[in-house]
Amino acid sequence: MPNPKPNFLSFYKLLCFVLLTDVALVVSKSTIEPCSNSDSCNALLGYTLYTDLKVAEVASLFQVDPISVLTANAIDISYPDVENHILPSQLFVKIPILCSCVDGIRKSVSTHYKTRPQDTLSSIADSIYAGLVSADQIREANSIDDPSVLDVGQNLVVPLPCTCFNGTDNGLPAIYLSYVVKPVDTLAGIAASYSTTITDLMNVNAMGGTSITPGDILAVPLSACASNFPKFASDHGLIVPNGSYAITASHCVQCSCGPGSRNLYCMPASLAVSCSSMQCKSSNLMLGNVTVQQSSAGCNVTSCAYSGYANGTIITSLSSSLQPRCPGPQQFPPLVAPPTYITRDSVFAPAPAPQSDGVTTATVPKTSTVPSTGSLPGFPPAGAPFGSLSNASTLMNSAAALPAALVIYLLAKLISPLSL
Ligand SMILES: *[C@@H]1O[C@H](CO)[C@@H](O)[C@H](O)[C@H]1NC(C)=O
Ligand SMILES: *[C@@H]1O[C@H](CO)[C@@H](O)[C@H](O)[C@H]1NC(C)=O
Ligand SMILES: *[C@@H]1O[C@H](CO)[C@@H](O)[C@H](O)[C@H]1NC(C)=O
Ligand SMILES: *[C@@H]1O[C@H](CO)[C@@H](O)[C@H](O)[C@H]1NC(C)=O
Ligand SMILES: *[C@@H]1O[C@H](CO)[C@@H](O)[C@H](O)[C@H]1NC(C)=O
Ligand SMILES: *[C@@H]1O[C@H](CO)[C@@H](O)[C@H](O)[C@H]1NC(C)=O
Repeated sequence: MPNPKPNFLSFYKLLCFVLLTDVALVVSKSTIEPCSNSDSCNALLGYTLYTDLKVAEVASLFQVDPISVLTANAIDISYPDVENHILPSQLFVKIPILCSCVDGIRKSVSTHYKTRPQDTLSSIADSIYAGLVSADQIREANSIDDPSVLDVGQNLVVPLPCTCFNGTDNGLPAIYLSYVVKPVDTLAGIAASYSTTITDLMNVNAMGGTSITPGDILAVPLSACASNFPKFASDHGLIVPNGSYAITASHCVQCSCGPGSRNLYCMPASLAVSCSSMQCKSSNLMLGNVTVQQSSAGCNVTSCAYSGYANGTIITSLSSSLQPRCPGPQQFPPLVAPPTYITRDSVFAPAPAPQSDGVTTATVPKTSTVPSTGSLPGFPPAGAPFGSLSNASTLMNSAAALPAALVIYLLAKLISPLSL
């Protein structure tokens, strides 16, 4: 055997180099929230589609209800066959998930992934789950000894980051979004996009400075409307972010939050499903109905509100209160059509900070509330981690398989002289 040592050393150096560059892509910082009870909470994942996917396919990646994905993004569910609508590659969406307490920390472990041919742990982590999980975390969660041997059809647990922080932020109701930092992001930009402050983001994520690294996962507090359903209700703890909707009670009830009010507003959903009675007892008011009666003492407001779903029954509660002024008509968060094209907004969600200088500011309107359809179709994300996104199916295979292929190539190349 001629002089194996240098070979081994260089092999190790190269392997380490490959692993390090690989690690740089997959290892991410994320906020750890210790927990002790078995309560779970509603949370959101910020997910960027790795390829064109139907709404139902996105939902099945995370094993969530397709309708809840649509309502969480204020996408109009009245479009025909909306679950089979194809969402474009690189679209940024919020995925509603349940955040539990596992081994003393907050995480979501209800997502499973069935491996397909050509999958590697890195491609699953970096591409399919868009950096919300790392290859190492999947390996650990599934006690995989040899990541190079993945059986096709293997059912992997995909641990996903989430935080609850008691459903509040600075004493106000909040739901937390797990956001994967993109190369274009600044902390100021993220804060601006989600109507929070740099200080708040730093506090929530226990950061010592404002620097962020692509791949980091930040917990972003979103202002929300909280429910007050009893413990025995199956939707106890429902919390809906400002500007969006949630569907509950077996698709019978839809609740919304904002604009202009922090009160959760629920009413019968328009979906064609059979539901238990939504009429308040001893009244002719239906869920969501509000009647007002002006008197000298003020405004007598009577409302029939939703109070949770228990044992297949919709709980309603009738309440009257005297208020100084009569409320105006209920306002609803604006709905958007199912996205078909990538807009600058959806790619850059969140957009860079208005005050941050440079190329981006020149092209992004100051108040970047561009509607999510119709503008700048197919705009590529500048600085997207893996080059062109024009062809999603090839993107996944070539980009995600690259590090693994490199390792195999190097192994083959370096092991062969050793075995001589
Ligand atoms: C969580 O919030 C509730 C009110 O929403 C409060 O009563 C409780 O003390 C909080 N718990 C912690 C640990 O902050
Ligand atoms: C909710 O969002 C709207 C517009 O998106 C905003 O004007 C309003 O201030 C927000 N409300 C809260 C309580 O954050
Ligand atoms: C009560 O709510 C139902 C269902 O949302 C609605 O169709 C009806 O118009 C409402 N009636 C009043 C008086 O607001
Ligand atoms: C308010 O109206 C409801 C029904 O319309 C009535 O039962 C209640 O007594 C009224 N309350 C006041 C303070 O007028
Ligand atoms: C739920 O419904 C079943 C049958 O409909 C009944 O036996 C049970 O007592 C109910 N449970 C509660 C908590 O109401
Ligand atoms: C993507 O690639 C496939 C096959 O490689 C091809 O059939 C398809 O037309 C391409 N799509 C686009 C949008 O280029």
